[in-house]
Amino acid sequence: MVKHRVLSGIRATGRLHLGNYFGAVKGMLALQNDPDYETLYMVADVHTLTTPYTIEELRKNRREVILDYLAAGLDPKKSILFQQAEVNEHIELAFYFSSVVTIAKMQHLPTFKDKVKQYPEHATMALLNYPILMAADILVYKASLVPVGIDQEPHLEVAREIARRMNQDYGTDFPEPKRFATKGEYIPSLTGEGKMSKSVEGSYINLTDDLETIRKKIRSVPTATTAGGEMPVGVKTLFAFLNLVDPGLVEKFQKTYDAGTLKFVELKDHVAEAISKELQPFQQKRKELEEDTAYVDRVIAEGAEKARAIAQKTVKEVREKMGLLS
Ligand code: ADP
Ligand code: TRP
Repeated sequence: MVKHRVLSGIRATGRLHLGNYFGAVKGMLALQNDPDYETLYMVADVHTLTTPYTIEELRKNRREVILDYLAAGLDPKKSILFQQAEVNEHIELAFYFSSVVTIAKMQHLPTFKDKVKQYPEHATMALLNYPILMAADILVYKASLVPVGIDQEPHLEVAREIARRMNQDYGTDFPEPKRFATKGEYIPSLTGEGKMSKSVEGSYINLTDDLETIRKKIRSVPTATTAGGEMPVGVKTLFAFLNLVDPGLVEKFQKTYDAGTLKFVELKDHVAEAISKELQPFQQKRKELEEDTAYVDRVIAEGAEKARAIAQKTVKEVREKMGLLS
């Protein structure tokens, strides 16, 4: 049986947070452990160049994300774990893909407009090309399923359009990749506004945060003074977290909320403890891996080699079909 391929990635911009964990990593884990799929998970280090960064940080983070993956349970015996920059074919294929995409299309993407608003001085060609490189990441492995949060949907739409155009114009056989959604596809910000994101200070909980830090952060979520009636956004956020980390208790807290007797601090402290408990195995494993440099080096080297073998085959095919091989 031909296995369906899965590809996902996270940019090397810093520590992972709960949004990354529930929106992306949980889906990556579920598919890794399903024998119907062949899974490839990368650190999108080249994508880090699309927004301002420091060289030292990137050098560190492109390795740290691999550690986070391993600590979360991604297993090099089951998945190919690698760094995007180690496989040149992504960049090569992205250039070929750029020949079937218009500038206007890229300029109108909401993700592009948001980033330009955030960094008006950095409206670069790399940023404009972001979704094309992401399409190449996925299609260079002919992956049909992509575990990512809901915010990535516009990028997947671009990947599908590129696949269609390439297949039509050049007779390639790219699949039209779909998003694999998790229960936590949209984790709200702790500030009560928008999604949890590492670029918004005060919005996130890191996977490495200890109980005290988590408690402090959760206590800062804005709530109402009294329970009952229409739920304010901050209270909804707390219930969303509870539903992910201790779903059995949602009904009980909901009832006390409806009755107007819910004490917010009790709900908050319970949520904080449940999050901390969920993260404990990750934190334990992360510490062990930090000591095991040789193992991590080996995972990185072997992952690159395996990914390259697949990517080279696709790029050769595309070069041939586009008239670049005699
Ligand atoms: P950030 O927005 O913090 O910079 P990234 O863009 O690096 O996060 O996202 C990495 C992965 O995590 C993507 O699959 C993205 O969809 C997912 N993700 C990020 N934030 C959230 C969130 N708040 N809820 C659900 N998924 C998220
Ligand atoms: N755009 C993704 C993010 O911001 C990162 C990413 C790059 C990615 N290439 C990918 C995700 C390919 C899935 C598949 O998180």
